[in-house]
Amino acid sequence: MNMAINPPHNGVDPEVQVFLQDVISGLSRDQKTLPCKYLYDESGSRLFERICELKDYYVTRTEADIFSGKLEQMASAIGPDALIIEPGAGNCEKVEPLLEELTSPAGYMPMDISPEILLAARARIQARLPNLHIHAAVGDFTARAVWDELPAMKARRRVIFFPGSTIGNFDPDQASVLLSSFANRLSTGDALLIGTDLDKDPVVLERAYNDSEQVTARFNKNLLKRINTELGADFDLSMFSHRSFYHPIRQRVEMHLVSLADQSVHIRGETFHFREGETIHTENSHKYTLEGFKTLLKSVGFSTAYQWTDPSNHYAIHFAEVY
Ligand SMILES: C[S@@+](CC[C@H](N)C(=O)[O-])C[C@H]1O[C@@H](n2cnc3c(N)ncnc32)[C@H](O)[C@@H]1O
Repeated sequence: MNMAINPPHNGVDPEVQVFLQDVISGLSRDQKTLPCKYLYDESGSRLFERICELKDYYVTRTEADIFSGKLEQMASAIGPDALIIEPGAGNCEKVEPLLEELTSPAGYMPMDISPEILLAARARIQARLPNLHIHAAVGDFTARAVWDELPAMKARRRVIFFPGSTIGNFDPDQASVLLSSFANRLSTGDALLIGTDLDKDPVVLERAYNDSEQVTARFNKNLLKRINTELGADFDLSMFSHRSFYHPIRQRVEMHLVSLADQSVHIRGETFHFREGETIHTENSHKYTLEGFKTLLKSVGFSTAYQWTDPSNHYAIHFAEVY
């Protein structure tokens, strides 16, 4: 198993160092911001699992319905002896039925930044599919290291599985860079099976990210708790509130933490001032149209063979091949 976590050097854990730098640089901007990948420590990943079960959060349910209705078609589009690679695999629940449907899969390579959830998922899948070759990689899928062992994984065809609308967390420019990096790690004939949330009624969108049980609010605020625990900061969680809203021009739902007063926060010798009402931008969830996403895929080297949607056109799963 690849555990891409470097050992501490001279008492300084390099991962904590990078986290600290990212937090300091994000909070030093005019619009304070924090990278959304840090939302997923162990508690954040567990809270995200609860979000996926919420009635208001239609994304997971709708995607699951498309998967269960089209599983046979997806497996036949992928074909036999394929290696499935899943960046940002989380609890790996969505891939299980697909792995079971595929003919003699060559292997499964889940990747995630959050080791606890990934390693638990790996054990669960291995128990269910004892003959499947699984190689779990802990690390950042936007960096090279986590992909380094891919060439050693032999298969007739490699397929990147990227569900959950995780691509929506990237701005369109960054999404293009990421998808292009996926294409570059594959060869002609390899493929991508990817889920995107579709643009729709803002009422539906805003309800999904402001659920009545406040789980999304806890998920968002957990990031400040994590910064307190891991970086010794002194955020007062009761002085920040959760806000999500749809931005029609940017076609995205933005998630922020709002400062409820003028206040200062200290992190390892640095002081950050917040005005009352000032926000920290913590996540974007971009929404696509079917045609828009097809064009984006084409521009980075994938030709779309299938687009499956639900009856309300709320969500889409795209199957595209490297050309
Ligand atoms: C929106 S969740 C989706 C999880 C799962 N694929 C699904 O569809 O339910 C995003 C997952 O990607 C992981 N993640 C986010 N950014 C990442 C990054 N840059 N590198 C590795 N994993 C990342 C998170 O830890 C989380 O498990």
